[in-house]
Amino acid sequence: MEEHEVYSVIGEEGFEKLISAFYKQVPHNDVLGPMYPPEDLPGAEKRLRDFLIFRFGGPQRYIEERGHPRLRMRHAPFPVSDLARQHWLRMMQVALTEVDIPDQAKQLLWGYFESTAAAMINRA
Ligand code: HEM
Repeated sequence: MEEHEVYSVIGEEGFEKLISAFYKQVPHNDVLGPMYPPEDLPGAEKRLRDFLIFRFGGPQRYIEERGHPRLRMRHAPFPVSDLARQHWLRMMQVALTEVDIPDQAKQLLWGYFESTAAAMINRA
């Protein structure tokens, strides 16, 4: 399996379950909870889900609705420290253990999450 094939293997449902399992932890996380918009968590959930669907070979809804991802720029308003990165990855790891998708898909997603999270760090 390659990155662009993940969508055809796990489908909308796989991404829906993974990102839902991630976002249900957000309000309870001391470091990340305060950063996310409390009145628009479902919107935030959709943005991450649609982005990943696009990135892993699915429909381009994210691009149609949000334009070029520019992820580092879009994270600039939020204080992404190394601690925040650790919490984000930890929540994603919990989410990945909860969903029933092939291990190979989990490994491809995890590799991408680890490197992208490191690239989002924008303060000490
Ligand atoms: C390293 C720790 C990270 C922190 C603390 C963080 C935090 C945030 C916050 C607070 C938002 C705004 C929520 C919203 O959409 O309203 C956001 C948006 C977003 N994040 Fe992250 N993020 C992190 C890592 C990542 C990673 C690794 C990815 C990609 C796998 C990612 C992808 C996105 C996307 C696609 C959006 C929506 C951008 C948009 O269209 O506005 N983030 N993030």
